[in-house]
Amino acid sequence: MLISNTVLSMLWGSTAHGEQGEMLSSQIRGVAEESMVLQGAPNISDLIPSLARFDLQGLERKIHVTFRRLDQIVSSIIEERRKLGEGNSVGEEAKDLLQVLLDLNNHGDYAAESSITDNQIKGFYDRRNRHNIDHNRVDDGRADATSRRNAAAIKEAFRLHPALPLLVPRCPTEDCQIGRYTIPKGATVFINAYAMHRDPQLWDSPLEFRPERFLDENAAKFDYLGNSSQYFPFGTGRRVCPGIPMAEKMLNYILASLLHSFEWKLAHGSTEVDLTDKFGIVVKLEKPLVLIPTPRLANPELYYSYS
Ligand code: HEM
Repeated sequence: MLISNTVLSMLWGSTAHGEQGEMLSSQIRGVAEESMVLQGAPNISDLIPSLARFDLQGLERKIHVTFRRLDQIVSSIIEERRKLGEGNSVGEEAKDLLQVLLDLNNHGDYAAESSITDNQIKGFYDRRNRHNIDHNRVDDGRADATSRRNAAAIKEAFRLHPALPLLVPRCPTEDCQIGRYTIPKGATVFINAYAMHRDPQLWDSPLEFRPERFLDENAAKFDYLGNSSQYFPFGTGRRVCPGIPMAEKMLNYILASLLHSFEWKLAHGSTEVDLTDKFGIVVKLEKPLVLIPTPRLANPELYYSYS
């Protein structure tokens, strides 16, 4: 939710704040959750492709409805902003990304190369339109020992519980050979990150939580960019997650803030954390982790939000 709010704020500025922002966030989250369930549902069309055109379970139809709903949410934001913007010019420095894009859209003639269409504006929400991804990484040189340990703990958590246990399916454009296997052109290939992250041939005591695996020289060896064939919690290759720079910065920041600001206790007098995974397109905990935070900073004002 925090990441979704941050992305919305970056894209839509003030539109994403306050009550309206909360409503938007929860609508988008609803659509995202629904589409995850639909995409993860077993589909008979995958097993018997000749039946795909009948869409027997109606999954394809439902997913189109879900995506249309997302499209409507984004369209309504664009329309509303356009109405607001008429006769109401904002200074350059106060413009958010949506305003900059709308200005290009309004002033451009559609034939000109620099103009941008509504669909392209919406495309900022769509993975198919990503270009020029900047994989700049946090400067490790400046990080102190605690934040290096936090970063290693996050990496280890992702090793044992990768958010996407099976990467987005791949489909080879020609027959290829991997080890003893021939993968025929057009096959749907699932890459099981979950199993590889726990493979005893690749990791010592793979089921143990040991952040030190990712300290020192291994900090650079196992990055998030999918450069290692044994560790790729953000995927690998041309479909690698484009959100890595943001996720990496935010996760370190969130974990550090939560540890710095609160003492944490398990709820309901429990003494053990149950980390059993619940599988789906994304992995979640089977039993939600319930913790009780107690403020540990002396000045209570530090806990107020300034938004
Ligand atoms: C903890 C945070 C995150 C994790 C663990 C994660 C993980 C992943 C993984 C495993 C994939 C599939 C890659 C593959 O199949 O090779 C993926 C794809 C993707 N991620 Fe993330 N991600 C995270 C955060 C984000 C954020 C913050 C954004 C956007 C702001 C984002 C946007 C995307 C998009 C658009 C794709 C689809 C890429 C494509 O198919 O071409 N992710 N992510």
